[in-house]
Amino acid sequence: MKKFPWWIFGDLKDLKVFLVVAIVTLLLNAGITSYLAYFVKDIVNTVFVTKNERMITLIPFILFGLVLAKGIVFFVNYYTMAYIGQKVIARLSDDLYEKVLRLPLEQFLIEPPGAFISKIINDTSLLQDFTSRQVATFARNLLTAIGLIGVVFYQGSELALLGFVGLPLIGFLISRIGKRIKKYTNRMQDKLAVITNHLFEGVKNIKEIKLFGLEEKFSRLFQIDNNRYLREFMKIKKVEGIYPPIVEITAAVIVGFLIFYGGKKIVAGELTAGAFFSFIIALIMAYEPIRKLGQDYNKIQQSISVAERVKRILDLPDEYQLKDGDKVLEKPIEKLEFKGVSFKYPGVKNFTLEKISLSFENGKKYAIVGKTGSGKSTLVNLIPRFYDPTEGRIEVNGIDLRKLRLKPYRRRIGVVSQDIILFRGTIRENIAVGKPEASFEEIVEAAKVANIHDFIESLPKGYDTLIGEGGIQLSGGQKQRIAIARAVLKNPDILILDEATSALDSETEVAVQRALDEKFRDKILIAIAHRLSTVVNSDLIIFLKEGRVARVGSHRELYESFEDYKKLCDIQFSQFSD
Ligand SMILES: Nc1ncnc2c1ncn2[C@@H]1O[C@H](COP(=O)(O)OP(=O)(O)OP(=O)(O)O)[C@@H](O)[C@H]1O
Ligand SMILES: [Mg+2]
Repeated sequence: MKKFPWWIFGDLKDLKVFLVVAIVTLLLNAGITSYLAYFVKDIVNTVFVTKNERMITLIPFILFGLVLAKGIVFFVNYYTMAYIGQKVIARLSDDLYEKVLRLPLEQFLIEPPGAFISKIINDTSLLQDFTSRQVATFARNLLTAIGLIGVVFYQGSELALLGFVGLPLIGFLISRIGKRIKKYTNRMQDKLAVITNHLFEGVKNIKEIKLFGLEEKFSRLFQIDNNRYLREFMKIKKVEGIYPPIVEITAAVIVGFLIFYGGKKIVAGELTAGAFFSFIIALIMAYEPIRKLGQDYNKIQQSISVAERVKRILDLPDEYQLKDGDKVLEKPIEKLEFKGVSFKYPGVKNFTLEKISLSFENGKKYAIVGKTGSGKSTLVNLIPRFYDPTEGRIEVNGIDLRKLRLKPYRRRIGVVSQDIILFRGTIRENIAVGKPEASFEEIVEAAKVANIHDFIESLPKGYDTLIGEGGIQLSGGQKQRIAIARAVLKNPDILILDEATSALDSETEVAVQRALDEKFRDKILIAIAHRLSTVVNSDLIIFLKEGRVARVGSHRELYESFEDYKKLCDIQFSQFSD
């Protein structure tokens, strides 16, 4: 037996009342159920043996009262236990979500986010069944079974032993039916899939079938598969038909034995008829909860493994525990330096970046160029500390990034990345994510810098237009400009544009660039671009080649003295000139 995951239920203080109600009703439910079985003795003895008329009129009322009480207790118990279970899961999902958001990005290099998230969703829904049903049902059935077994032994003593030999036998038979049926059902479903596929293909390829005169051939193939399906179907029906009689016959043999021994004892005066019937009823009633205990026990074991898996995620150290330093920058960033930085993705053999030494100063505009896959995005990803260098270090104003508090530092960095992410919400909210307290004027100003203000104004709802799921669809260039506006509003010390204007037409791109240059005149602006026209007027161009800095210089310098760059320029600019 695995260790029960009490931690899932965590802190139940605010659910105290529900817990008490749940436990009391659990006990009451088992008590009343067992008492009902016990009460059979009085019914039989008064009705058939002592023939007490007053009791005969009373008994139906008592019976009704008991069943009504049991019904109410069951409902209250069912409801409160489900509530507690669901509440617990809601809290667990909150914790998981918070944890996932705080994990370092390195985690998603080990396991892709999609797989990671779908595992979490899957596990949470499995655990939901655990906390809101399995545990409750198990407790209810366990207590009921204990109560009823008590009645069985109380009324029948040695007869009870006989009864408990028979029960597992029937249980065994029934579980075998279940397994068989499951096996055949799976096979039947496979066959059904084949048939469906056939139908589908027939319709899809109807033109070819007609052209090649294949109607008969396809029909014949279909008939063969259809027959196979029929055979599997009949196997299930055979099992379904044959087992109930077998179960009944076994049960009859057991009951026969019980009546034989019980009857002898009644005749000998060692047992009352009432006790005997009460015994039989309790035995029958105990069967169902015991059977379910076995089933649920297996499910609970599985759920416990799932819980352990989830616990491992919750126990992962988060980014702040791993990376937070204790310094906070007082002044704006004046200088950003890469000092012998190398970087390797986990699980990848080669270094993606090698021995990078670069210096970025405020008031200047930088461009990073290089072939696709040369490491440009990786390099800029190190700046907001999405990843840390494998070797070497990055400093701002002379302080190693690792010594800085993460959150205040990241507030100084703006990134417009290659794949734009917009959140579900209005345009206004999307622009203001980095500065929720921004005034409307500030938002409009940022949108103007990004050259998207006029477009937003042209929408019927303007800045309150919903985007993302359920909202309007934006073009690639519109999304890019909203992302730029968002970065501009954040007013960072360093702005990184990773192919951020790639979807814009040249005219719009130039306009956006001019506005950005103006706005970030005394800050650090780093742009990655494949289109060289966007980078020619940068102060410095950094040319990356297979993860190394191949050359740094102005457009003129590189063009005149660096063959790779010259080639690149000539290809791009010659396309139009001849
Ligand atoms: N998450 C990752 N895990 C492993 N390898 C990666 C990962 N991301 C990028 N790489 C590898 O690192 C190298 C550099 O990728 P990077 O995205 O930095 O290139 P890039 O210069 O930005 O290219 P592009 O111009 O196409 O955007 C590539 O070989 C890529 O396969
Ligand atoms: Mg890239």
